[in-house]
Amino acid sequence: MTDVQGRTAFITGGANGIGLGIARTLAHAGAKLALVDLDTDALARAKAELQKITQVETYRLDVRDRDAYASTADAVEHSLGPVSLLFNNAGVIVAEAPAKLSYELWDFAIGINLVGVINGVQTFLRRMVERRQGGHIVNTASGAGLAATTGSGVLYCTAKYGVVGMSEALNVELKSSGIGVSVLCPGPVATNIMHRSHNVAPKGAVQLSEEHEKRRADLREQINQALQRGANIDDVGRMVLKAVQENQLYIYTDRFMEEPIKARTKALLDALPDPRG
Ligand SMILES: NC(=O)c1ccc[n+]([C@@H]2O[C@H](COP(=O)([O-])OP(=O)(O)OC[C@H]3O[C@@H](n4cnc5c(N)ncnc54)[C@H](O)[C@@H]3O)[C@@H](O)[C@H]2O)c1
Repeated sequence: MTDVQGRTAFITGGANGIGLGIARTLAHAGAKLALVDLDTDALARAKAELQKITQVETYRLDVRDRDAYASTADAVEHSLGPVSLLFNNAGVIVAEAPAKLSYELWDFAIGINLVGVINGVQTFLRRMVERRQGGHIVNTASGAGLAATTGSGVLYCTAKYGVVGMSEALNVELKSSGIGVSVLCPGPVATNIMHRSHNVAPKGAVQLSEEHEKRRADLREQINQALQRGANIDDVGRMVLKAVQENQLYIYTDRFMEEPIKARTKALLDALPDPRG
């Protein structure tokens, strides 16, 4: 059980969406907050809201930038004290057909969704272990990190499977350190991730026709509408806090992935060699 009261939490992608929901819940539970994001307007809004409840500092940080990550970590710990709650949450959704991917797109999506999480762990884990004050790491993956379904996208699945694998391995390795690990695998959550991601993503390898671009924009809007019917960010924040307090490895926001997980598990087991040879 990790009591968050008085601890310092570092939340990437903390200005919007799920990160903001986590920040709100932690603020009410008495944690101090370091919110990092690329979106400086949203950071300012989050700070104005949350500083009425707790001590909050905000930083513009691209989670891909390792040098800036280390100096931001130093600045945070100087102002708010040692970070013992780490939320590697910043992420983007880039859905592109496999044959239309470019290295630029791979680097963008894997850089934020997987390497960003690695950078967070690399920056803070040693500090947390050496201080021996326990703590908790929550990595945000996705249902797309548990089973590949049509539309989840090869870029997204590749990164999110990596985040799930890393979290499971950390959970095993850190068992006796007093540092808990959780991996958040949300179903649909009502955020603007589709549009926000599109606005910052590089173009694919293939120049799309105007008509094709229009079809892609319509599809993005359809997915965006579907997400708006998903879980509320504040409810997700409360689920995450409960998982930290109860040291729960997997955090689901719904049963959205039940059938794909069953089908994948069955396929994995069915492919094992027959024990009779
Ligand atoms: N919304 C969903 O339905 C859903 C479902 C499954 C998983 N997720 C995952 O949840 C996490 C949060 O997503 P969300 O829906 O809240 O999205 P969001 O767009 O509302 O918030 C993500 C935040 O991350 C920030 N960000 C993006 N790239 C960054 C970078 N390089 N450095 C620092 N900050 C960066 C954005 O500016 C934004 O504020 C992501 O990892 C996403 O993959 C979301």
